[in-house]
Order: sequence, then C-alpha cells, then structure tokens
Amino acid sequence: MSTIEQAKTNLFSKGFLEVGTPEKMDYVAEINKLKKEKNAVILAHYYQEEAIQDIADFVGDSLALAQEAAKTDADIIVFAGVHFMAETAKILNPKKKVLLPDLKAGCSLADSCPPEDFKAFVDTHPDHKVVTYINCSAEIKTLSDVVCTSSNAVKIINSFPKNQKLIFAPDKNLGDYLNKETGRDMLLWDGACMVHEAFSIEKLLDTHKEHPDAEIIAHPESPSHILKTASYIGSTAGLLRYARESKKEKFIVATEAGILHEMIKQVPEKTLIPAPIEEDNSCACSECAYMKLNTMKKLYTCMKYELPDIEVADDMAAKALLPIEKMLELSK
Ligand code: 13P
Ligand code: SF4
Repeated sequence: MSTIEQAKTNLFSKGFLEVGTPEKMDYVAEINKLKKEKNAVILAHYYQEEAIQDIADFVGDSLALAQEAAKTDADIIVFAGVHFMAETAKILNPKKKVLLPDLKAGCSLADSCPPEDFKAFVDTHPDHKVVTYINCSAEIKTLSDVVCTSSNAVKIINSFPKNQKLIFAPDKNLGDYLNKETGRDMLLWDGACMVHEAFSIEKLLDTHKEHPDAEIIAHPESPSHILKTASYIGSTAGLLRYARESKKEKFIVATEAGILHEMIKQVPEKTLIPAPIEEDNSCACSECAYMKLNTMKKLYTCMKYELPDIEVADDMAAKALLPIEKMLELSK
C-alpha cells in the first residue's frame, strides 16, 4: 500500500473520508437517510441553491424560518441559510444542535453593524427604543427592544406609540422605506445589503422599456430609486404571494435570484425577469455570495459529522432571546 493510500485508509477508518468520490455520491439519497437517522429538519431560505431548496423540509422567508425553528420538535436543526439565521434558531433552541453547512456564510448587512459602534450610538440616544432587522448578530440583538423582518416590520413599528422615538438598524434602505410607510422619523443606521445595492437603475428602466407590460416588484432592502419604480414592495414571501395573486403575467423581480426557483414553481405560466445589476456576471442578476456558499456536499457533510454547529454564549443567548420572542409574539 502506498503512503497516500495508507493515509487515506487511516482517514477513512476515522470517518473523515467517504467511499467513492464525492461526485459519485447520491447526495439526495444520503441527506434524506441522515435526516431520518438523526431526526433532523432542514430549514432553507429562498436564496439557497435549487437542490437545497428542493431537499429542505421547509423553505421560507426570514420570519417563517424563525417561526418554524421556534416550533420544531426535531433533534437537530440544519439551517441552509446564513449565520444570523442559524444563530437565531440556536437562540430559540439553546439545547438543540443547530448546524450551518458553511460557517463562512455571513451577511454584508449584518457585518455593516459592528456591536461596539452600535452600542455607542444607542448610548447617545437613551430616549430611543431600538428596533433591529433580524439580519444582525446576536450581540446587536442584545441591544434591541424588538427584532423585525421585512414581512412584519410595519406591524412591529406601529406597535410603539407614535411619539416614541425609535432607532432602526442595520438597513438604511429598509429603514427609509419604513419611515415613509409608517410616517415615522426613525434614526437609521448606515448599513446595507450588497446584493440589493447592486441593482442598476438605468438597466432596470431599459428592461422595463423592453417589457412595458411587466410589473417591477422589489425587496425593501433595495435603494429608494429602485423602490420608486416598483408596483409592489415586500419580503421574499410577499413577492411570491404578489406574483401568485396579481393578474399581471410578467414581472421584473428585484431581489436575490434564488427566489426565482420557487416563483417559477408557483407561477409556471408567468414570465419572470430578474432585475439587472450594474456589473455583468454570468446570470446578469444579483446573487448573494454568502447564501451560495452552502452546497449539497457541505449540507451532507455537516449532517454526517454534525459540524459546524452554532454556539452562542448562554448570557448572550438569554438577552438576545427577549427581542426575538417579542417579535414572534407581535407576529401572531
Ligand atoms: P426575507 O426572506 O425575510 O425577505 O429576507 C431577505 C434577505 O435578505 C435574507 O437575508
Ligand atoms: Fe445578507 Fe443581503 Fe445576502 Fe440577505 S441577501 S444574506 S441581507 S448579504
């Protein structure tokens, strides 16, 4: 036996290598087997790659995924999404194992709100309550009075008396949209999602000229010049509902392109055009590089070895749980 073969045999005996090359592995069959064996549930966001959405037990927007995580009776939660989503699931289920296929699946929006800076900002406005978008770290959640998502934000903000001063973080685009929707003057943190900031208004208007019969529908993480062109603005679940219920036959969709997989399933007879971005890439659409770090291979591996798993310090989890629970209560 060669040295390399010997090394491989050693690794295999320790469970670090699989029989056959990964390319030959039937990930769908193996993942389904592991799901049963381990009583695991796979929760996936609409921005995940198609194969992951197809094998998930539940696919949803950020609110629906948090609600599902809060009520699951599975022993293991496999979160096919990004870190803040898996972290929220862990905070809701401190005794359960929560797995994220790739720990590097972060979020540009969450990263745009460093806890130390945000704490200093909050401290200078002691008369303000703090509403944070769920796309932030657990540490930011500990500094919040209530968490929201794009599907319940108006309701959450309206739950405060009109004269209550508010800080909204981290998304300035969503915050600006919410100020207009609710007639508030919330102080906005200067954060943004790179995926929704990437849309080109010039190319979008050109596309609309080519398809004047199409309606533009947009996620509120998009900048205001994009939102001004939209006939409907909503969360990923809201965009799906609108495409389903609208009498229109054609939509230009301004959000991450992964949503098109579920949208095509729900409205196969309609025409869906992804909103174009400034820079050319292979799909000419906006993709979240963080969401796309998760693959079927990583999903399989994380379920097999139950790694990487999410850890949140007990005291931080206990503090971050309060604004999440408040959101879930207000969303009933
Ligand atoms: P929703 O699915 O809640 O609309 O969130 C979109 C998003 O950017 C998630 O990171
Ligand atoms: Fe974060 Fe934007 Fe990616 Fe959502 S789409 S995970 S907000 S970077």
